Amino acid sequence: DAATVIFSGIQPTGIPHLGNYLGALQNWRRLQDEAQPGAKLLYSIVDLHAITLPQQAPMLRQWKREMLAALLAVGLDPARSSIFYQSSVPAHTELMWILSCTASMGYLSRMTQWKSKLHLSDDASALDEKAKASLKLGLFSYPVLQAADILVHRATHVPVGEDQRQHLEFARECATNFNHTFGAGSKLLVPPETILSPAKRIMSLQTPTSKMSKSDTDPRSRILLTDSAEEIHKKIMAAKTDSTNAVSYDRAARPGVANLLELWASFDARGRGPEMLAEELGGQKASLKDLKTSVADVLVEEIPAIGVRYREFLEKDGGRYLDEVEEEGARVARKSADETMEIVKRAVGL
Ligand code: ADP
Ligand code: NA
Repeated sequence: DAATVIFSGIQPTGIPHLGNYLGALQNWRRLQDEAQPGAKLLYSIVDLHAITLPQQAPMLRQWKREMLAALLAVGLDPARSSIFYQSSVPAHTELMWILSCTASMGYLSRMTQWKSKLHLSDDASALDEKAKASLKLGLFSYPVLQAADILVHRATHVPVGEDQRQHLEFARECATNFNHTFGAGSKLLVPPETILSPAKRIMSLQTPTSKMSKSDTDPRSRILLTDSAEEIHKKIMAAKTDSTNAVSYDRAARPGVANLLELWASFDARGRGPEMLAEELGGQKASLKDLKTSVADVLVEEIPAIGVRYREFLEKDGGRYLDEVEEEGARVARKSADETMEIVKRAVGL
């Protein structure tokens, strides 16, 4: 069958920031709003991925609920999108084991994500005994779980940011490998297509040469989807730029200014690009204060309303509403995953 199945996941590791919104969540909502009738949309809060790094149980529980409320607040509609915790669908981990039995260690060693989480260079041979001891098996094999997340739903399309492209390639490799080993090449598992987010990488407001991230220790480096108009205004006005008091778009020479222009462009209702916005603001005659004011203004039009809805969803029916949304999402996801596992187990002989 040629039905569209869209799957994507996000880790419950804190309130989403503007980078998550523009690089992922906005795209999820757009796909939902443009989906044909009959398309299946599955969005998972991937708690099993979160525990590849140490977590506190009460914090993790809270972050899962907060992420669920945030997904609803940005406009995911449980009537159209199934939202569920990864750990509510045991088939994800079951398929992971089966895929592990045909996945190559060599391929995983070349992946860059576990290296960046351990703050190692991309040069694999630099792994000494100390680094090996701190590298947990789960963090190393995380791409196999990610492949299972996608393949267990026979997803046809996976919306991700640029940083996830390599993992998607691995998921396709896992599917092809599996089909070759157990299906004589027939399409038991479906190699998924990537839908790259149209948004550029959003950079830190304080260090505009590195990406905006939850793990940055400076809270002024990112705008959260729950920030008030006042907080947004403050953070934008305090953003690091440079000492040229004119507005021009040059990513290499003026990363801070370019990031602000790109942020603005991402929210511009008329779809103008960063160069055009710089021009329209007055270019050489415009000041950085003008630029910051314009950026803060467009952000304030959209973001604080998300925070309001977020708080409503967290409280709704004394918290029961979120539980119900998740239970229903997990029910749909389990059904979808169990259908695949039947095919997989029959093929493997389990
Ligand atoms: P973080 O790096 O803040 O921990 P995650 O790794 O949880 O964020 O990313 C969740 C999603 O948000 C991914 O799809 C990722 O591509 C996207 N994303 C994260 N940071 C950015 C950013 N600065 N710009 C654009 N997209 C981003
Ligand atoms: Na990340």
